[in-house]
Amino acid sequence: YNLVLLCGGGGSEHDISLLSAKYFEACLKDHPRFDTLWLELTGEGLYRTKSGEIVELTNSREIRFGDDKASWPVDYVIPCIHGYPGETGDIQSWFNLIRLPYFGCTSEASSNCFNKITAKMWFSALGIPNTPYLFLDEASDDAIRSVEAAFDNWGSVFIKAASQGSSVGCFPAHKREDIPALVKKAFEYAPYVVVEKTIKARELEVAVYQYDGDIVATRPGEIVCAANTFYSFEEKYDTKSKAITHVEAPNVDEATVEAIRAYAIKAFKGMKLRHLSRIDFFLTEDNEILLNEINTFPGLTQISMFPKMLANHGHDFTTYLEKAILAELE
Ligand code: DAL
Ligand code: MG
Repeated sequence: YNLVLLCGGGGSEHDISLLSAKYFEACLKDHPRFDTLWLELTGEGLYRTKSGEIVELTNSREIRFGDDKASWPVDYVIPCIHGYPGETGDIQSWFNLIRLPYFGCTSEASSNCFNKITAKMWFSALGIPNTPYLFLDEASDDAIRSVEAAFDNWGSVFIKAASQGSSVGCFPAHKREDIPALVKKAFEYAPYVVVEKTIKARELEVAVYQYDGDIVATRPGEIVCAANTFYSFEEKYDTKSKAITHVEAPNVDEATVEAIRAYAIKAFKGMKLRHLSRIDFFLTEDNEILLNEINTFPGLTQISMFPKMLANHGHDFTTYLEKAILAELE
């Protein structure tokens, strides 16, 4: 089978997507069943091969190369794109239209999860606890006043662009007077902004994926940020990051572990996710579980938790991927 490993994309996580794609590339290298073509979707919307050639991915599911227009039929695509247009669901809509099977969540599930506001509406509708929040559709004086009132009530808040990943456009507001500028700044990253109560909590993450027809939720892993930081873009990817990851969160009682896994499965089923996801939770000092967010295309970089949690659960990523792909093609 001919696979396209599509990476990059037009969003703020372009370069992270390339790192994740390297993980897929290593898994698929020399695979007996798959020929894989790496294609980077550039910020300008062009498809570029590893050798720098610009090619077309056509509506008739083929790659057209160069001037002689040699073509290569595509059987399957892995849209390894964090943020726009992958995790937002845009490119999957096109794959649906041209009937090109793809790895990962559908366009609808992706878009429901990627927007932090829609996602929260879903979590609440499914009865899954999540953080208290306000939703802003403009940076008007009234909107800013509502955030200040929330600040008086909740203490410090997180001001987040609603449709970005990797903490891009997310700003903690510790001081009331910072709020107007931070709200305006967040709107530079997205047309909607969500303001959340800052939760003093541990950050736990669960890999949830399909394997042989079952939905598997791993035991939760944990991210421990350095004091007085949050898991920002820099803390996620900078080599100087002081954040520590545990593939299994220590000292969480079994009942809580099982409750988190049950919520993760409920979210995966309820939002009709497919193939893979990383579902991030807060665990408060009072042992309260809150769903933070769902990543429909979690990072697969050196520091990323998804592949480690899958391995810790006893599953090999390449075998898992092969099963997911072949289930659709055979
Ligand atoms: N958005 C990044 C890639 C993640 O969730 O892992
Ligand atoms: Mg995320």
